[in-house]
Amino acid sequence: MNMPVTEILLKWYDIHKRDLPWRKSREPYYIWVSEIILQQTRVLQGMDYYNRFIETFPDIFSLAGAPVEKVLKVWEGLGYYSRARNMHETAQKVVEIFGGKFPHQYDELLKLKGIGPYTAAAIASIAYQQPVPLVDGNVYRVFSRLFGIDIPSDTAKGKKKMIHIATTLLPAGRPGDFNQAVMEFGALQCVPGKPDCSRCPLRKMCLAKKQDRVEELPVKDKETKIITRYIHYLVWISNGEIILKQRKEKDIWYKLYDFPEIPDKKGIEPRKLFRGFLGKHGISYDQHAKMFISEPVLHQLTHRHIIARFYHVYNKKWHFDMDEGNFRVPMDHMKNYAFPRLITAYMEKFPERFQSDNE
Ligand code: ADE
Repeated sequence: MNMPVTEILLKWYDIHKRDLPWRKSREPYYIWVSEIILQQTRVLQGMDYYNRFIETFPDIFSLAGAPVEKVLKVWEGLGYYSRARNMHETAQKVVEIFGGKFPHQYDELLKLKGIGPYTAAAIASIAYQQPVPLVDGNVYRVFSRLFGIDIPSDTAKGKKKMIHIATTLLPAGRPGDFNQAVMEFGALQCVPGKPDCSRCPLRKMCLAKKQDRVEELPVKDKETKIITRYIHYLVWISNGEIILKQRKEKDIWYKLYDFPEIPDKKGIEPRKLFRGFLGKHGISYDQHAKMFISEPVLHQLTHRHIIARFYHVYNKKWHFDMDEGNFRVPMDHMKNYAFPRLITAYMEKFPERFQSDNE
């Protein structure tokens, strides 16, 4: 009963699989890099990042030997920067302990930082042909529809059930291909929302199709709670230089670069906040024409919304006492630093606001 599903998926994969750069070899380093990037973004955008990553760090030794800032720069814009930091740390560990070769066993892979059950299974099965099943969002969708399973995907019970199904279907001969086949099938055929079931090779055995529940499945349990956070960035430009800081706190964007922040007074009106801050530095808001406050910029992450404003000051003289951790750089050196996507998007949208001839 089960073998046909496995065979159908493998056959479908052989015909429809996309020609992706990391599929040209079974080098575990390539598989690892691609899988971590694909946890952050879709395949199309992921390809550019992958190519850039491999060009910059062609093997695990070059990644291990690079400064972490360089890794963050290549990662810039992908978000979730702990992934990049963990990759760097894991590269160093694999070089030191295993001579640059990833371990073959799932349990050994799992001990490495940033490698969870999904990535360990992907490396073990795709690079080393170990019979280890994996479940990601695509796999969950395919199997929950095919077998009509409505256990919520964000529960331990749901995950366990899916691993069980994936284990049952996994062929001993082509475990890596099978895992990729199900993911690819979820990405291209059994898509979220309304897939085109008329051309699905599994339509005759799909329980969700039979019960007209395709759009209902998979079920999710809780909606993610979203927190809103406000950031007030000071963009101080003086004598062709701008003030930057490196983020030292181990929260989002750790070790990335951004601007000094004006401490938030809860809910205070932006002009009032700016005036208070400038007053502390002996400057009056009105006496300096060349300053303004940007419109709010919204940045949405999975678990939080960030609302940022940019408080611009252009002047010929430095009035700003530099806090520890802040430093000045010439404006044309900014491209060498890795910024959060929120900031690069703002700079791309308003390049004229980042020019020293405004002074
Ligand atoms: N999504 C994440 N990894 C994938 C892979 N190896 N093949 C298809 N889709 C994926």
